[in-house]
Amino acid sequence: MASSKISSPGHISFSPRAVPERVANGDFFRGLRDIFDLNVSCEPSTDTVLIEIDVNTSRPELQKKLRSNGWLFEEEQIKALEVPGEGNMNVVLRVVTNKRSFILKQSRPYVRKYPEIKAPEDRITVEYQFYRTIRNPQAQAHFPRILAYDPSHFLLQLEDLGDCEDLTCWYERRAVPPEQLSILIQILNRIHAEPPPTDFPGNLPLRELNHQHVFVLPFMVDNGFALDDIQPGLERMAAEYKKDRKLKGKAEKIGKRYLKPGKVLLHGDYFPGSWMAKGNKVFVIDPEFSFVGFPEYDLGVMAAHTILATSARAGLKTILREYQGKADADLVSQVAGIEIIRRLIGLAQLPLDRSLEEKEQLLKTAREMILL
Ligand SMILES: Nc1ncnc2c1ncn2[C@@H]1O[C@H](COP(=O)(O)OP(=O)(O)OP(=O)(O)O)[C@@H](O)[C@H]1O
Ligand SMILES: [Mg+2]
Repeated sequence: MASSKISSPGHISFSPRAVPERVANGDFFRGLRDIFDLNVSCEPSTDTVLIEIDVNTSRPELQKKLRSNGWLFEEEQIKALEVPGEGNMNVVLRVVTNKRSFILKQSRPYVRKYPEIKAPEDRITVEYQFYRTIRNPQAQAHFPRILAYDPSHFLLQLEDLGDCEDLTCWYERRAVPPEQLSILIQILNRIHAEPPPTDFPGNLPLRELNHQHVFVLPFMVDNGFALDDIQPGLERMAAEYKKDRKLKGKAEKIGKRYLKPGKVLLHGDYFPGSWMAKGNKVFVIDPEFSFVGFPEYDLGVMAAHTILATSARAGLKTILREYQGKADADLVSQVAGIEIIRRLIGLAQLPLDRSLEEKEQLLKTAREMILL
């Protein structure tokens, strides 16, 4: 696991090549200030030593560092560092000061929860670029504001959305509130309608990692996942699906599509872990898997989670009805089926408390949705 302290000079090196030139030379910061009316300086740090933060980072040291970056107001003191919620990929902290709170998010060259899985460190740049690309004010209202960004430390400072409920509660409640689903479809309509800049990051290394976990490993017999550790009997149940050549073939075909460039700006991870609610407001976070691709990917993933939560397909119909862009309904259904399977028998499990019989029914539904 990474160091929990600010590293001493020269202790951890970083690769300046990981930072796109336009980002590194500060152009984006000037643009950002125009858009978001930033009240803090966010020039990139000139310090070439990577600071790795986490919840145990010394507060005075972090305060010194953030102050030298211009990320704190005058006389602003850090009072506490907290973990704001569940997350696997990155370090995400809530910084509570005497004046406000904000979120710091930092990527690592690996998946934080599974340090043995390498992951591209500049995924934080993708997240930053996604937020920058969203220009529609009605869409912006559903995302945290970016307060500052330091590519040399793979660090993003974000508005704290406060005490939200993350929508993984859908699984436990076995229900998808129709008004929340409609807002989420509306937000996706707006994301997909944003013209992506021609130089939007391809995000290929992260997509390749995701591709393995969505389209390849769940359909592989010897994938090394100890499914019985998740739920005794799951391994035996999964075998039928892992051996199904037709399913594997479809997953392979759609997986290839996932790796190809497309035309539509995608969120890339549009599922309840990226959605938060506060009263009747709905927010979307965590666009690090964003890329310019095929819209059916976001739509299918969203549909899959309505089905996982409710064990019914009504959400898929609502999504197809309320989506305003062009989408191939069969492809949406197939992506949804693949997402359901990978969430049940792949590595990225959900807080989904279901009996084996219920999971078997979901797997059957998913197969029907894929093979049509
Ligand atoms: N701007 C924010 N305001 C309030 N809470 C936030 C904010 N951003 C993130 N969080 C909280 O921190 C958690 C982790 O954040 P996030 O999903 O961005 O991290 P991650 O490491 O990329 O997660 P994952 O492993 O799911 O990809 C969220 O589930 C949420 O509870
Ligand atoms: Mg994430």
